[in-house]
Amino acid sequence: MSVNFRDRAIAEVQKAIAADNEKEYQKAFDLYMSSMELWVKALKWEKNKAIKATMQEKMATYLDRAEKLKQFLQSESEANAGGGKTPMGANGSSAGGKAKPSAEDEDNKKLRNALSGAILQERPNVRWEDIAGLEGAKETLKEAVVLPIKFPNLFQGKRQAWKGILLYGPPGTGKSYLAKAVATEANSTFFSISSSDLVSKWMGESERLVKLLFSMARENKPSVIFIDEIDALCGPRGEGESEASRRIKTEILVQMDGVGNDSRGILVLGATNIPWQLDAAIRRRFQRRVHIGLPDPNGRARMFKLAIGDTDTALEASDYSTLASLSDGFSGSDISNVVQHALMRPVRKILQATHFKPVMKNGKRMLTPCSPGDPERIEMTYDDVKPDELMAPDVALQDFEIALGDSHPTVSKDDIERQIEWTNEFGSEGA
Ligand SMILES: Nc1ncnc2c1ncn2[C@@H]1O[C@H](COP(=O)(O)OP(=O)(O)OP(=O)(O)O)[C@@H](O)[C@H]1O
Ligand SMILES: [Mg+2]
Repeated sequence: MSVNFRDRAIAEVQKAIAADNEKEYQKAFDLYMSSMELWVKALKWEKNKAIKATMQEKMATYLDRAEKLKQFLQSESEANAGGGKTPMGANGSSAGGKAKPSAEDEDNKKLRNALSGAILQERPNVRWEDIAGLEGAKETLKEAVVLPIKFPNLFQGKRQAWKGILLYGPPGTGKSYLAKAVATEANSTFFSISSSDLVSKWMGESERLVKLLFSMARENKPSVIFIDEIDALCGPRGEGESEASRRIKTEILVQMDGVGNDSRGILVLGATNIPWQLDAAIRRRFQRRVHIGLPDPNGRARMFKLAIGDTDTALEASDYSTLASLSDGFSGSDISNVVQHALMRPVRKILQATHFKPVMKNGKRMLTPCSPGDPERIEMTYDDVKPDELMAPDVALQDFEIALGDSHPTVSKDDIERQIEWTNEFGSEGA
């Protein structure tokens, strides 16, 4: 996976550089930006620290270049509106090009429009009950978003609702899913922003976007600002950091402190799977840091139940604990994958069957796949079965066992240990 994204990112960036050299600046800019999304993904999967650091340095260079290109393209289009053409200097500045007085307002309007896309109008329909385990985390979130709205009197004087909560933990454990539950259950305006979007799509305007984001959140309070994959924005300051991301980070720091601004009624919710990469100053702004770890056996049993939902299966109540004990080390998303595979097995059986046998269901004769050795077999394929005659085989425990045997946990032991270490030092347990 990691190699894949890295290779794709490198290929994309090479195209960008080629276009840049050809002076096709718009194309180069677009390519730098699309490579950025790939870099962010590659970075997420890369385990080797040294490679990671090099990648970050490279990303910073490309981002800076892209930002220069963007400035140039903007000044060029303004100049063009005035009828002139301008060559681009190595530093991205162009000769001439007067900004129109209304340009700033226009821009603000554009950004505001873009941001209204980040406001979730529809509730994602994920309820607290849809989340298995993680009681501690749910509790903290309720303290932060439900109670202050329902009982504002409770939070006065020195008792203030949480302003920043960081959800961290290995991939696929339900961090983004919890945020969806917050969006559904809380009566707040919910802004959802992914860091990679801020870095890639909004590059150059990102820090203004951040400022605007917080001011819109203030206008619409109570609000929740959810920043997914916050590590992509808020890595440690210093080497290998792009000018652009430094400015975004500084803006977030300022806004979260709310100096000169009233930050009451605004909760910033962050999610990351590499908390140790966060800048110390950002870390401090999240008053609560909650570990979203791998599920325990009870959690896993519940996840199997939730993932199967109301799909018909031949499973009995006791089978769920069997499944839970077979899936040690699996994350929530691993389990939904396993369930998907298991539920597809009957479909595959139908596709591959060379023999079917008649069965009676509700007084009607139906056909179901069977082995070539079955005494009642009829040699035929699914092509010969009429749509209303088909009876799909039930999904049985065995199908789940086979699906489990075919899959592996995606979270490594090292990762788990690191998360626990970080929890001991800076966080608290969310299970
Ligand atoms: N605690 C849980 N309860 C129910 N379903 C879960 C839980 N955790 C994970 N899942 C399932 O796994 C999917 C992926 O979870 P999610 O996107 O929240 O992971 P994440 O923690 O945000 O991972 P990443 O760090 O990679 O972004 C969810 O859509 C959900 O179906
Ligand atoms: Mg996520």
